[in-house]
Amino acid sequence: MTINGRPFTAEVDPRMLLLDFVQEQAGLTGAKRGCNEGKCGACTLLVDELAVKSCNVLVARADGCSLLTIEDLSSDGVFGPIQQAFHEKHGLQCGFCTSDTILMTHYLVQYGPDRR
Ligand code: FES
Repeated sequence: MTINGRPFTAEVDPRMLLLDFVQEQAGLTGAKRGCNEGKCGACTLLVDELAVKSCNVLVARADGCSLLTIEDLSSDGVFGPIQQAFHEKHGLQCGFCTSDTILMTHYLVQYGPDRR
């Protein structure tokens, strides 16, 4: 698969959850485990430009796909524009799900509210 524009390969149990794969294999921890049952969205990733709750998806379903995570929205430690706006307006709440909220804002800006 491709993660944040870079090829990424690993051999894993295909029954592994996509969230676990991204955290444990790719070392990307921006997506969080909240409810672990597809309700809260803290684990959201973009898979082939669709928002996906990664706690509910087996990694095998993402084989060959393109993933985008919150980590790709900044560059060299510099916030991207949506992150900067959240920072300036204190849009953090407790911070646990902020990465999901920012990623979903990016999704809405990129694709509009009607895309599923
Ligand atoms: Fe809540 Fe995935 S952890 S939807």
